[in-house]
Amino acid sequence: MFEANLSPAFNITRASHAVLTARDLDRTEAFYCDLIGLIKSDRSRDALYLRGIEERSHHSLVFHRSDAPPACERVGLRMLTDDDLKRAYDYFGSIGCKPKWAELPHQGLTLHVDDAIGTPLEFCATMDDLPSNLQKFELYKGASPMRLDHFQIAAHDVRKATDFYLAMGFRLTEYTATDGKEEIWGSWLQRKGNPHDVVFSSGRGPRLHHFAYSVPEIHDIVHVCDVAGSLGFEQHFERGPGRHGIGNAFFVYFRDPDGHRVELFNAHYQAIDINHTPLRWDLSNTRRSQLWGLPAPARWFYEASEFAGKKVHEPVLKADPVTLETFLGKQF
Ligand SMILES: [Fe+2]
Repeated sequence: MFEANLSPAFNITRASHAVLTARDLDRTEAFYCDLIGLIKSDRSRDALYLRGIEERSHHSLVFHRSDAPPACERVGLRMLTDDDLKRAYDYFGSIGCKPKWAELPHQGLTLHVDDAIGTPLEFCATMDDLPSNLQKFELYKGASPMRLDHFQIAAHDVRKATDFYLAMGFRLTEYTATDGKEEIWGSWLQRKGNPHDVVFSSGRGPRLHHFAYSVPEIHDIVHVCDVAGSLGFEQHFERGPGRHGIGNAFFVYFRDPDGHRVELFNAHYQAIDINHTPLRWDLSNTRRSQLWGLPAPARWFYEASEFAGKKVHEPVLKADPVTLETFLGKQF
């Protein structure tokens, strides 16, 4: 049912970067550098480039200044070599996806293509290589975000999206399905050997639900909450801390000044061997979302960043999630 192509013609290595718009780059820089702890690689009047502490590549987050409603322009994935990009170009062309080459600052050969549900993807194999900051401990601030780990995308057709990524060589680690059926609501897909690079969850889509940075220790997540309080970012706090059932992440979610959602998390597991059977979670099992703690507020389920210029579709599958609001309504 979830057969991955174990020998794809090209080698996607990992989730790499996101390209978003922001209305005020000063505000965005303050949020991501002063609160979250990302490191600025470059800044101009119209663009801001950020990276995690251990990241050697030039950027894992790009913001373009725009007065239009905030949006995500592209989700970035890496391939191993330029030859992989060229083989991918032929593959996407053969299945009618209309790939295009792009030239972008600080990146090598870059390929643009939309996935099966309309998510605008950007593949590259190389970026400018910057000096290591890993042992510059004076730079560890906020949550000390080490590296971008994954994206979650709200998908109107999770099955269609999942099949597209399985064909590209992604493998399923965990999934949510209707109780007693194999009707898939959420899929956790990986290339780099941990629980996920890309997640699809049922909802109005395609939209970017969040991007996530891995942090060294659980106390870094508690610390960034304290920093949010002390720097006046407490209104940007959205969910957690808590621990997800799926993926085992200890997490917190913030919304940035334009409403884009960032997750900071710790404690994923390794998933490399081909005998790793996808872990199934029933839709009725709320432990998949949190092993402990309160459910997410409704806005966590329903709000997400639209992709610039892309039509948003109503979901094929519809269910009412257990939200913080409905949960509290039942308690009082
Ligand atoms: Fe996540």
